[in-house]
Amino acid sequence: MKPTDHFEIFLATAPGLEAVLWEEVKSLRFRAAKQVPGGVTVNGNWRDTWRANLEVRGANKVLARIGSLRVFHLTELEKRARHVPWSNVLRADVPFRVEATCRTSKIYHSGAAAQRIEKAIRDTLGAEPAKDAPIVVMARIENDLCTISVDTSGELLHKRGFKVAVAKAPMRETMAALFLRQCGYVGEEPVVDPMCGSGTFVIEAAEIAMGLKPGRERPFAFEQLATFDGEVWNEMRRAPAAEKPAFRFYGSDRDAGAIEMSRANAARAGVGDLTDFQQHAVSDLVPPTGPPGLVIANAPYGGRIGDRKRLEALYRSLGETLRTRFSGWRVGLITNEPWLAKATGLPFLPTTAPVAHGGMRVTLFRTDPLP
Ligand SMILES: C[S@@+](CC[C@H](N)C(=O)[O-])C[C@H]1O[C@@H](n2cnc3c(N)ncnc32)[C@H](O)[C@@H]1O
Repeated sequence: MKPTDHFEIFLATAPGLEAVLWEEVKSLRFRAAKQVPGGVTVNGNWRDTWRANLEVRGANKVLARIGSLRVFHLTELEKRARHVPWSNVLRADVPFRVEATCRTSKIYHSGAAAQRIEKAIRDTLGAEPAKDAPIVVMARIENDLCTISVDTSGELLHKRGFKVAVAKAPMRETMAALFLRQCGYVGEEPVVDPMCGSGTFVIEAAEIAMGLKPGRERPFAFEQLATFDGEVWNEMRRAPAAEKPAFRFYGSDRDAGAIEMSRANAARAGVGDLTDFQQHAVSDLVPPTGPPGLVIANAPYGGRIGDRKRLEALYRSLGETLRTRFSGWRVGLITNEPWLAKATGLPFLPTTAPVAHGGMRVTLFRTDPLP
């Protein structure tokens, strides 16, 4: 495969967020963007996979779909896999591993399927399979068609590479970026998170306003593929940030440790001077001076039965603060229990389907500008 060859690129997200990821991908001018279950596909070449990893804020992973094989049994799979031109994509000196899944196919043993493909790669390319290899080849066998992809990201993309500290129940950066977009945030207004934890929403919002590319400093798996060109990549990453906006991004939390973490994380991400983190409770929140914008938070989630009263009081207090002091601001609240959202008394718009997050299902509740 030449660096300029075109193929399908898959950008993965949590089910329920495909539509908003699609909007982001379209806005970044990728070609032929289509929503599919669990993500978005686009058409492109290897440089487009680098750009997707560098620029798309909402995707969890970027996969390059390098081939598909019609297969009905394991021997056939191994034989066909030997004909894939692996040396055009993988390097003989970089260990790899294969992950396989099987659905409604004659081949149903995913472990055996992965082994056969590993053997084909090892025999034809000379690369060594290893459990903790930096390169992952993914084989999805569905209706007897084996689609082969290479994970170009490596570590999941919410790891932007800046966070020094993480609070309890942090929001993934990728998901935070998509929720911000779903609330209509495109970097042109102030953002307030009154329960900021490690500062995820505030830092994402500030980076978006500054035009900072989310993958600007972290390493990616594609750097260890045969198709990589370091010079082109360095050039791509070097794009200058936008001018500083006139407004700021505010986080608060009643926990002193959270505020310390948020400040450290914002400084590492290069948005320390655009962000302001203060320790106080939700009930002491007042809007910053200047134009209204967006208040967004994921408040503590409902779980144990004993929490009900305490949580209801917290959501009620959040709702009252926002209703009485934040006229003109929009609100985005992420929670796992619709009754908790209801306890705020805020005029929420109809919601979209819940999204899987950290073993639970969460929903974004949004308002128009508050009266
Ligand atoms: C689910 S965490 C938010 C995580 C955050 N979005 C992140 O990505 O790290 C909820 C936060 O609400 C804070 N919190 C709980 N009750 C509060 C209150 N009454 N006032 C302010 N913050 C509160 C907790 O300290 C915790 O950091």
